[in-house]
Amino acid sequence: MSGDIKLFEDGMKEKYEKLRKEIEKHNNLYYNEDNPIISDMEYDKLIRELRDLEESNPDLKVEYEIKNSKVGSGSEKSENENVSPTEKIGGIASEKFSKVRHRVPMLSLSNTYNISEIEDFDKRVKKIIDVKKKIDYVLELKLDGLSISLIYENGVLKQGITRGDGQIGEDVTENIMEIESIPKKLKEPISLEVRGEVILPISEFGRINQEREDEGEDVFANPRNAAAGTIRQLDKSIVKERKLDCYLYYLVNAEEYGMKTHKESIEYIEKLGFKTTKIFELYNDFGKLEKAIDVWKTKREKLDYETDGLVIKVNEFEHYDELGYTTKSPRWAIAYKFPAEQVKTKLYDVTFQVGRTGVVTPVAELEAVNLSGSVVKRASLHNFDEIRRKEIKIGDNVIIEKAAEIIPQVVNVVFEDRKGDEKDIEVPTNCPICDSELVKEEGQVALKCLNPQCPEKVKREIAYFVSRDAMNITGLGEKIVEKFIELGKIKTVVDIYSLKNYAEELENLEKMGKKSVENLINSIEESKKQGFSKVLYALGIPFVGKFNANLLTKNYNSIELLKEKSIEDLLEIKGIGDKVAVAIHTYLNDENNWAKIVALKEIGLQFEAEKAEEEKIEDNPIKGKSFLATGKLEKYKRNDIKDIILAKGGNYLSGVTKKLDYLIAGEKAGSKLSKAEELGVRVLTEEEFEKEFLEK
Ligand code: IVH
Repeated sequence: MSGDIKLFEDGMKEKYEKLRKEIEKHNNLYYNEDNPIISDMEYDKLIRELRDLEESNPDLKVEYEIKNSKVGSGSEKSENENVSPTEKIGGIASEKFSKVRHRVPMLSLSNTYNISEIEDFDKRVKKIIDVKKKIDYVLELKLDGLSISLIYENGVLKQGITRGDGQIGEDVTENIMEIESIPKKLKEPISLEVRGEVILPISEFGRINQEREDEGEDVFANPRNAAAGTIRQLDKSIVKERKLDCYLYYLVNAEEYGMKTHKESIEYIEKLGFKTTKIFELYNDFGKLEKAIDVWKTKREKLDYETDGLVIKVNEFEHYDELGYTTKSPRWAIAYKFPAEQVKTKLYDVTFQVGRTGVVTPVAELEAVNLSGSVVKRASLHNFDEIRRKEIKIGDNVIIEKAAEIIPQVVNVVFEDRKGDEKDIEVPTNCPICDSELVKEEGQVALKCLNPQCPEKVKREIAYFVSRDAMNITGLGEKIVEKFIELGKIKTVVDIYSLKNYAEELENLEKMGKKSVENLINSIEESKKQGFSKVLYALGIPFVGKFNANLLTKNYNSIELLKEKSIEDLLEIKGIGDKVAVAIHTYLNDENNWAKIVALKEIGLQFEAEKAEEEKIEDNPIKGKSFLATGKLEKYKRNDIKDIILAKGGNYLSGVTKKLDYLIAGEKAGSKLSKAEELGVRVLTEEEFEKEFLEK
């Protein structure tokens, strides 16, 4: 710039740069880190501000885009990199995954929080399209997850790609293969690309966060981040354990399949085996649409997944080209976003909660307020890093929000309301329950109470131990446990099995009649029949959820055998990662833990697996080995070969890793073959596989 001509008002350029940087920061936190720190509504406000600035000073954008245009480095590069945030989708494909260019760009939707803008949308559409032509609108839920594109060839799932920046996404095929509701094979051998949203059910979100809080890990802010964080991570056993779900809402190039309307295309993909965002009804005028939107505002609260709004789409494909596209979104659709339900209240104190594993969590004590129909008095602050990051003090006015209609969160402090007498939140040095000194374990953010007899820890440990997926003991409520801990009759989970000696005291407890005591004692006795995998889960070893407990007990059928194994041995189990291996090894080699196990074993709990199914499989060369087939096979269908391998006790992996023993390669085996060669994995032809493994 020569400086001769004054292009912008004073400070305007700085303001623009600052705002743009701020948005880029939030884009990165949301799309790449899966950890946003502002709400969608606040983000959309920033985008609107930037758009307004650009509209009144178009040169700002031009100058920025020229300044930022770089010469490509030769690798897969997106043309989006130097574009203003108002015109691009904020994600970047991570280096962790291979990058794939979308065949058809993955666009976003323009959105509004304002119903009158939906009316404007309707007017705009009707101005462009000939009045004589039929126009219907389709109303769909806007699911809040991670958008995904799925590619099928001849009816077989080949690839799953995240949106990334809309041009280039990440290849997350291995991970999406673990999502049950995504069909691996369609009902017809057809080739197509469909798009939709990977989501995490709210109930699963609650379970995972509880687990993470117990382990002292950062919790996910909402189900969207949990879903995105799960799909974009490398350990696919974690993907499998978290019950992700997927709903599809878009068939790419639908007209090529003879579809005339969006509704028709969704019904078609539903028939092929996909779960879809159901289309409620067709609306041909704004009034009816407005009413339906109103109904869904509350109706959606009953769903077990998060929706952040509704999408209104023109139904007839014949209008799409005429309506056109912006760089970021189609003009034939608009999203109506539900305003986040937020409210201001006073944080008058912070207390500390002790979890099952001893992790101490700060809790905000709030002046009671009504939020989305329920009274909120407390909110989790998760950990001290979060308090520091949000600069929360006692006495602050804070904005709270309900994430996924479940746990209230402190979104931010209202700094304008500060009077100066707010107090810093002191980090406790001792356990609020048993007063023992708190410890910060290496590499962790959480403070922990290590006293195995801390009454609060024991109480939570027991609640977990008796839960349905663990020992399934019914009738041992919190009140009884509390009472018995207080009386000194329960010190660890082992003491549950001595409760039968205190039948009389139990009967005298509030609301405990003879019959319920009898039922409780029966249930305790009955729990001794729970299998090894449930018992292992019930111990509450960090990271050993249902799935991992199952995997461990399938591979080593007694607790003694498991204890003997080194971390390296445990890592040999397909699906067991570093964290789990270290946790299980450390737990079983701790003296106190082992003493507890020995005591439970003496009582009669099952620490040995009944002969697992796999054990019954006769010895054969496939048993215990891992395989993967790739390329075009002559004699077998991919799934048939998989079934043979599984039936003979082998493992079938979805990708080439060091853990793969054999790759069965057909014609055009491609990248999997080169990766196998690189890693020294043995490659077999179909014939070699038959000779070596089936004919012996
Ligand atoms: S249609 C070309 N329909 O919301 C238009 N998107 O904010 C493709 N989303 O990128 C999108 N539910 O990730 C569509 N029923 C729905 C949706 C939906 C959720 C997501 C999707 C999109 C984002 C835009």
